[in-house]
Amino acid sequence: MAMVLPKLKPRHHHYVILLLSCTIILCLYFENTWMLLTDNYHVSKRAACVNRTCAPDRERTDWFCARYAPTVQLLLNSSNSALSAPLSSWWRGLQVVKHVANYTALVRNLFPLFPDQKPCSDSHPNHCRTCAVVGNSGNLLGSRYGPLIDSKDCVMRINKGPTGGFEEDVGLKTTHRIFYPESAMDLDNSTHLVFSPFKILDIEWLISVFTTKHITKTYTDVPSTININRDKVMILHPEFMKYVHVNWTENHGRYPSTGFLTVIFALHICDEVHVFGFGATKDGKWHHYFDQTLTPYANESHAGDFEYKTIIRLHREKKLLMYKGWT
Ligand SMILES: *[C@@H]1O[C@H](CO)[C@@H](O)[C@H](O)[C@H]1NC(C)=O
Ligand SMILES: *[C@@H]1O[C@H](CO)[C@@H](O)[C@H](O)[C@H]1NC(C)=O
Ligand SMILES: *[C@@H]1O[C@H](CO)[C@@H](O)[C@H](O)[C@H]1NC(C)=O
Ligand SMILES: *[C@@H]1O[C@H](CO)[C@@H](O)[C@H](O)[C@H]1NC(C)=O
Ligand SMILES: *[C@@H]1O[C@H](CO)[C@@H](O)[C@H](O)[C@H]1NC(C)=O
Ligand SMILES: *[C@@H]1O[C@H](CO)[C@@H](O)[C@H](O)[C@H]1NC(C)=O
Repeated sequence: MAMVLPKLKPRHHHYVILLLSCTIILCLYFENTWMLLTDNYHVSKRAACVNRTCAPDRERTDWFCARYAPTVQLLLNSSNSALSAPLSSWWRGLQVVKHVANYTALVRNLFPLFPDQKPCSDSHPNHCRTCAVVGNSGNLLGSRYGPLIDSKDCVMRINKGPTGGFEEDVGLKTTHRIFYPESAMDLDNSTHLVFSPFKILDIEWLISVFTTKHITKTYTDVPSTININRDKVMILHPEFMKYVHVNWTENHGRYPSTGFLTVIFALHICDEVHVFGFGATKDGKWHHYFDQTLTPYANESHAGDFEYKTIIRLHREKKLLMYKGWT
């Protein structure tokens, strides 16, 4: 393509060159200042925030972007509770003991009980929300991660993982605890429950706990009542559970473990995710930090091995920070 340039007299060239040079110098100067400003901004406000934005116009070919679905439904609420037929059949397929119940009628009773939740109501555009996800692995013993864990804005704990007696290694703050009826425990008033319904009876149990208290047994004994702040109850959406199973564990195991669900949940609601207490101990043993019973976790229904490798991969891709418990 030929562009017709105005024919310039030789001395005009000098002006043009001078003007161009000035523009370039000015641009460089301002770009530097801009970079310094934005760098400062990053240091002071969004220190080490992980950028998980997947450009919509970029081909989603890289490993992370092919899996990460930013618009997935995370939590059940009064307006998104309808399940598509394939989702409903996947989710109902998780229950081992068949239990017939009308889901639509059930969720109608659910949301008058619990106010709709935003996953992270205290998020702030100028602040990098840091989260610690604390698994229950024996590799936490002797780690002295407690203060590091407690320094995060949110500390998410899993099932019955205790803090009492283990504060040095696991910390004492709990802002979120994820469990299902069979792994339930009392929470203090400031802790969010992230309830993980693996079956329809789990939703009935949650309603029962706050109303009739009549459910005392699922496939095992469950508490009929429990201390939970009703204003802080969040319920994972079955769509999210299926998304984690399909996209992140790639259909390994029957369904994702509560711990792995929490890691991916944190990826979606936190700016910076720090993962503690996952995987085996230094000598290759799988047990909880609070008991010495070896668990066949690595190769059980949860594909712990695959989940662990996925977390390591997320660490390598700099989407989260993984702490192994030893150096
Ligand atoms: C994050 O990455 C996306 C895509 O690469 C980019 O468009 C966006 O500006 C980045 N955001 C920040 C805060 O750096
Ligand atoms: C329910 O959640 C979706 C996103 O998952 C959100 O767009 C919608 O506003 C929520 N509805 C209520 C009533 O909170
Ligand atoms: C389930 O409950 C809803 C709402 O009460 C009702 O409209 C629907 O017909 C029920 N479905 C079945 C299969 O009973
Ligand atoms: C727990 O917090 C709620 C508000 O979220 C409040 O109404 C209730 O009184 C508190 N309960 C206790 C035992 O502090
Ligand atoms: C991840 O989920 C999205 C939307 O749910 C889907 O389009 C995509 O194919 C999934 N990726 C993988 C690797 O399963
Ligand atoms: C789990 O199974 C895989 C493949 O069958 C095997 O390579 C791995 O060593 C097993 N892990 C454990 C901890 O038994």
